[in-house]
Amino acid sequence: MHRIKSLSDYFKKYEQSKKDPDKFWSEIANNFIWKEKWDKVLDWDFESADTKWFKNAKLNITENIFERNLKDRGDKTAIIWEPNDPAQSPIYITYRQLYEETCKFSNALKEKGINKGDRVIIYMPMVPEAAIAMLACARVGAVHSVVFAGFSSTSLADRINDCQAKIVLTSDGNFRGNKIIPVKPVVDEALEKCSTIESVIVLERTKQNINMIEGRDYWWHDCVNDISSQCDSEILDAEDMLFILYTSGSTGKPKGVVHSSAGYMVYSSYSFLNVFQYDEGDIYWCTADVGWITGHSYIVYGPLLCGATSIMFEGVPTFPNVSRFWDIVDKYKVNQFYTAPTAIRALQAHGLEPLKDNSLESLKVIGSVGEPINEEAWHWYHDNIGKGNCPLVDTWWQTETGGIMISALAGITPNKPAHASLPLPGIQPVIVDSAGKELTGNNVQGNLCIKFPWPSILRTTYGDHKRCINTYFSNFKGMYFTGDGVKRDHDGYLRILGRVDDVINVSGHRMGTAEVENAINEHEEVIESAVVGYPHDIKGEGIYAYVIVNSKTSDDKIKIEITNVVRRVIGPIAKPDKIQIVSGLPKTRSGKIMRRILRKVASNDFDNLGDTSTLLNPEIVNEIIKGSSN
Ligand code: PRX
Repeated sequence: MHRIKSLSDYFKKYEQSKKDPDKFWSEIANNFIWKEKWDKVLDWDFESADTKWFKNAKLNITENIFERNLKDRGDKTAIIWEPNDPAQSPIYITYRQLYEETCKFSNALKEKGINKGDRVIIYMPMVPEAAIAMLACARVGAVHSVVFAGFSSTSLADRINDCQAKIVLTSDGNFRGNKIIPVKPVVDEALEKCSTIESVIVLERTKQNINMIEGRDYWWHDCVNDISSQCDSEILDAEDMLFILYTSGSTGKPKGVVHSSAGYMVYSSYSFLNVFQYDEGDIYWCTADVGWITGHSYIVYGPLLCGATSIMFEGVPTFPNVSRFWDIVDKYKVNQFYTAPTAIRALQAHGLEPLKDNSLESLKVIGSVGEPINEEAWHWYHDNIGKGNCPLVDTWWQTETGGIMISALAGITPNKPAHASLPLPGIQPVIVDSAGKELTGNNVQGNLCIKFPWPSILRTTYGDHKRCINTYFSNFKGMYFTGDGVKRDHDGYLRILGRVDDVINVSGHRMGTAEVENAINEHEEVIESAVVGYPHDIKGEGIYAYVIVNSKTSDDKIKIEITNVVRRVIGPIAKPDKIQIVSGLPKTRSGKIMRRILRKVASNDFDNLGDTSTLLNPEIVNEIIKGSSN
């Protein structure tokens, strides 16, 4: 399916995609099964955030995974599941088996009253059933919203309530390294705050004692016992919702990013095939969790649409030891390996000893995603994992973009350390200054925007289209604003510089500073807080919280309490790395917190604080510097 073969081919395709996008994308879309073809390829208006691809076409994405692949690839392995404990047997699932399991679970969903358009929450560990659940939703036309199983009950409840979900799919517990994490009890707690959930389906995984509520909670194995493995797919409109995925922004609560069926299908598979240059028979492994967009697009949909073999890993890189990733690469002879810089840096810190018994010979392509990869980590990854001869694809994209936007194409685009490099065909990035002026030519730096739609662009933010317009299409007129800074170097290659808004990227996970502040402020003795990011050796960015408290409690004790509040409200991934108790926060005369100063202090950059004389309370700066916990 339209695989790019060389650098000149890439430039040719890129030009074609710009000159005649309708022709370019319709030729790619012709490779899929459609119940009815489109009558227009693209309709768009960025001002009203209204984009429609393959207008009035009818399809079901799972037919393009199953019916399209079964004839030639029915006995081919679709998913290899590697359990948390390496002593436990892996599971190999063929395309035919995955099809049957998906159909069975689709029927189970229907029995529970799930119809086209209903929202389904998936709060599960990394087990094949999580992928089956997503595909079954897609088969019956329900809209899945996967919630990362590390989120707290409050975060889960917020998401359930926002999308008014009807059912939760979950597990009893979750194996993570040498720990068993309770999962069902978190769901129970969340559901105390939710009124729309009619049933809960629970997968037995860890076999610990849980509470099952009669008439609401059902075991997964009972639901699929004695049920047909045939299920006709629901026919959807190209623009019908495929899924909602919640993500953090610079203001308010996480928003539900909405992706639609046809565009997402076309772009996730096209980008998968071209970035990783997947060949028939290759074994591909993406280490992400299905709770994030990377897991959606590049563990489940992209690879399966291309008939690939995709590994799903339940565990963590450090269990039973820090060789685990490399052992898995050798065990399955992985050809394409895709992970996050934070994992690379964490493993790099252990030196080369954990690699000494691994050959890693099978690797053809290595990839990076989620945050800027620093040059040191890039070289370590390239030299020691890729052995200096695997192309390293640094893939820049976002939950909202649905698929990889800027990246080298493996073996085709010359590698340049720490540069995401060049846009994929169909993607038109532009760099604009703060006044919205486009900066053309090389050696420029500014805000990264995209000026033309691509098939998997977000369609809306669930239940609040205005928020979608305000967040992405209002900062720079007529453009999608990414929230990232970028530099175009002297060769025209793009280097992502990180977020330019109040979003922190912690270990490749997006956290809104306002979201963490709101959680901290729930502690009854907290008066005010300000959260900023600072450079962190392993996580990329750490969370630094400045907190004003009204309390006689010792600072150490209150810091622990604050950490626990954040864990409870959002989840462990949001807990601050550093908390500094302060008596005030630097504010402008209009009362706005000067985060720039707080960021500098958190980064130990005391000499470049800039002008502080215009502050309402300039004296606070010295106090903050003195007390900073660096
Ligand atoms: O800041 C960019 C960073 O991650 C943000 C998107 O986060 P999320 O929606 O959670 O998706 C992560 C996985 C696609 C972006 O705005 N980011 C992602 N990939 C890169 C990156 N920053 C630099 N280089 C990348 N390759």
